[in-house]
Formats: sequence, C-alpha cells, structure tokens
Amino acid sequence: MILRIYRIMLNIVLFGPPGAGKGTQAEKLQERYGLLHLSTGQAIRDEMSRGSELGRLAAAQMEGGKLASDELVLGIIEKYVEEHHSARGVIFDGFPRTLPQAEAFDGILKRIGTGVTGMVALEVPDDVVIERILTRGKTSGRADDQSIDTIRNRIAVYDAQTAVVAEYYKQQGKYRAVNGVGTIDEIFERLCTVVDSWEE
Ligand code: AP5
Ligand code: MG
Repeated sequence: MILRIYRIMLNIVLFGPPGAGKGTQAEKLQERYGLLHLSTGQAIRDEMSRGSELGRLAAAQMEGGKLASDELVLGIIEKYVEEHHSARGVIFDGFPRTLPQAEAFDGILKRIGTGVTGMVALEVPDDVVIERILTRGKTSGRADDQSIDTIRNRIAVYDAQTAVVAEYYKQQGKYRAVNGVGTIDEIFERLCTVVDSWEE
C-alpha cells in the first residue's frame, strides 16, 4: 500500500555493539512509549527454531559470528514494516547493520509515508560487552554466545561493517549517543532524555 501523506511515526534505531544492552533497553522503551520492538537477531533466531528455510539459510550465513545477508534481513524488515504501518512507532534493534541496509531502509519507510526519527547508540567498551555476553551465554542457549572466538568475531564484524552506519545518521543530524555503562535503570533514563527530545 502506498500512503502519500507523511506520517509522524517514532521510528528509533537502537544501536550498539553485541551485548551493549539493545534488547534489554528496547523492552523498557517499548513499554514507556507504546512502541513496537523488532530485533532482527531475534526474528532470525525464531526462524531458526521453527526450522524454516529462511532460518536454515541465515544459520549458514551467520556461521562464526558473521552477518546474515542484506537481502535476507531486508526481506524481514520490509514484511514487518508493511504489516505494522499503522503503529505509533517501532524500535529497530540490531538494524540497520550495514550501509546498504540503511539506504534501503529509507526507501522501505518512504513507501509507507514515514522515515527514521533518529539513531541512539549505546556506548559500551569491548571488555564490558564480552563479560555481559559470557554471563548471558551460561543460560541463553544462544549459539553465538558460547565461544570467546565467536564473540570476538561479532565485535570485529561490528567494527568493520556496522560502526559506519552511525556516520550515515550523523550526516543527517539524526545521531545521538549515550553512555551504556551503569545500571539498567540509569541507562534507560539517559535513553529517555533522547527519545523525549524527539517527541517534542
Ligand atoms: P543480535 O541478536 O542483534 O545480537 P547482537 O547485536 O550481537 O546483540 P545482543 O542481542 O547479543 O546484545 P544486546 O545489545 O541486545 O544486549 P542485551 O540487552 O541482550 O544479532 C545476532 C546475529 O544475528 C548477528 O550477529 C548477525 O549474525 C545476525 N543479524 C542480526 N541483525 C542483523 C542485520 N541487521 N544484518 C545482518 N545480520 C544480522 O544485553 C546483553 C546481556 O547483558 C544480557 O544478559 C543483559 O541481561 C545484560 N545487561 C544488559 N544491560 C546491562 C547493564 N546495564 N549492566 C549489566 N548487564 C546488562
Ligand atoms: Mg539483542
């Protein structure tokens, strides 16, 4: 469906390295602001546990901590955005993760008459994220949390392919960063200060 009138949706890109706390904070933001939450990583894990063709394809692509292909992830996003076009807004967690994804995302949102409100990044040093992921790995059952090599590789992939996406939003004046170290509630309040400034 094509909607020609520009609609104000609160579309937030929640950014940060693996283990930065994106999922944890997205749950809280979702509740406070009445938004939807889409984690592309979780959507892929759901496909894997269903044993779907998409899940099998993604598992092969992500071996060792690599990214899934842009094509696969954009397919998930396009379907989600079209299905939820009348939402108040969406927190995108773990997407976009490459420049081609960021560029295509603008086109997908434009087709439903909206755009990205802003990106907010959680800044967390590598040693802290490694510690968080190793702790979670004891109970998460996530394959990519189990080995230190895979965790390091996820961080290397973030540095090489994903960090640059912040520049894309900086150039549009849509980038904000908060300190992602502290208690979950402290970090949440920092994020709320940013989101409140976008709501005004
Ligand atoms: P994804 O699921 O997005 O994983 P990730 O980015 O590696 O991040 P995590 O989910 O591990 O961490 P998080 O930032 O959500 O932190 P969390 O809140 O859990 O992606 C997985 C994979 O899918 C990717 O590697 C890639 O292969 C693929 N993929 C996904 N999106 C893609 C895309 N767009 N393109 C291509 N491929 C894609 O917190 C971590 C832990 O720390 C938790 O145990 C939590 O309880 C704890 N914690 C949180 N906050 C705090 C705090 N303040 N203090 C102490 N502990 C805390
Ligand atoms: Mg997550």
